[in-house]
Amino acid sequence: MDEFEAYLASLFDDRLPSRVQEAMRYSLLNKGKRIRPQLLFAVLRAYGQDVRKGYGAAAAIEMLHTYSLIHDDLPAMDDDTLRRGRPTCHVAFDEATAILAGDGLLTMAFETAAHAGEDAKISLAIVSECAKCAGFEGMILGQAKDLEAEGKSIANERELQEIHIYKTGKLLTLPLVCGAVLAGKHGDIKNWQIIGRLIGLSFQIQDDVLDVTATSEELGKNAGSDAKQHKATYVTLLGIQEANRKADALFQEAQTCLNQMNIHKEWIEEIFTNLIHRKK
Ligand code: IPE
Ligand code: IPE
Ligand code: MG
Ligand code: MG
Ligand code: MG
Repeated sequence: MDEFEAYLASLFDDRLPSRVQEAMRYSLLNKGKRIRPQLLFAVLRAYGQDVRKGYGAAAAIEMLHTYSLIHDDLPAMDDDTLRRGRPTCHVAFDEATAILAGDGLLTMAFETAAHAGEDAKISLAIVSECAKCAGFEGMILGQAKDLEAEGKSIANERELQEIHIYKTGKLLTLPLVCGAVLAGKHGDIKNWQIIGRLIGLSFQIQDDVLDVTATSEELGKNAGSDAKQHKATYVTLLGIQEANRKADALFQEAQTCLNQMNIHKEWIEEIFTNLIHRKK
């Protein structure tokens, strides 16, 4: 992953210096867990492909994800002050700069995706997948539903499941689909979408649990944020124990889907195992 980190940083070489660029780098290059790039690389390896082939797409996805975090932390949204172990972008800079840094990363993601494939057709497919998963029928829809549900008591799991699948599942499905696109395995995309949905939902359920069971120091972001914002979460709906059980069961289901694919699964399985036991 060090080589990928260097690649990500190099995308800012020879760019016009500005405060907004500083804010973009502050948030993007401040190492997150990089789960989405890891998933994309694992899919490429599953098809016997060189992971370097995925650097452009993985960088684009990490930019989309980081933009979503910068905006998610804004006072108008979750109003958080800590992210990836440091003050959130709007605290370290200012609110207007954080909005623009998010916009900057969103657009830079498409600049990067435009060159992410070996040929124009593959790059176009990556651009299109990025737009679908991040956009108003993807992550943005989930974020909008998440805000609408604030303060309301959600009695029905289906509604909450939908929020989670859109706000988190879409950007976790994206690297799996991009991996298949880059490897030319279009016939497998449906399977990856099913797997992405399952691990995305599980990941967000775990995030809901960690919000109440871990400390801000452990998470590198504000613990207790959901209660403060009166969010509907799997913890408020099912309680910690049942939410944990559900998250594990979803990973098992994803593993079952993976088992039906004729690919080299070991790297993806390793990520699943790490995710099941994650503490942050
Ligand atoms: C945080 O994502 C937002 C959610 C979807 C829960 P990650 O937990 O992947 O955050 P980083 O990238 O490691 O900071
Ligand atoms: C946000 O979910 C998912 C995004 C699209 C950013 P959360 O609001 O629970 O994520 P954290 O806990 O702030 O990372
Ligand atoms: Mg949020
Ligand atoms: Mg948040
Ligand atoms: Mg959260």
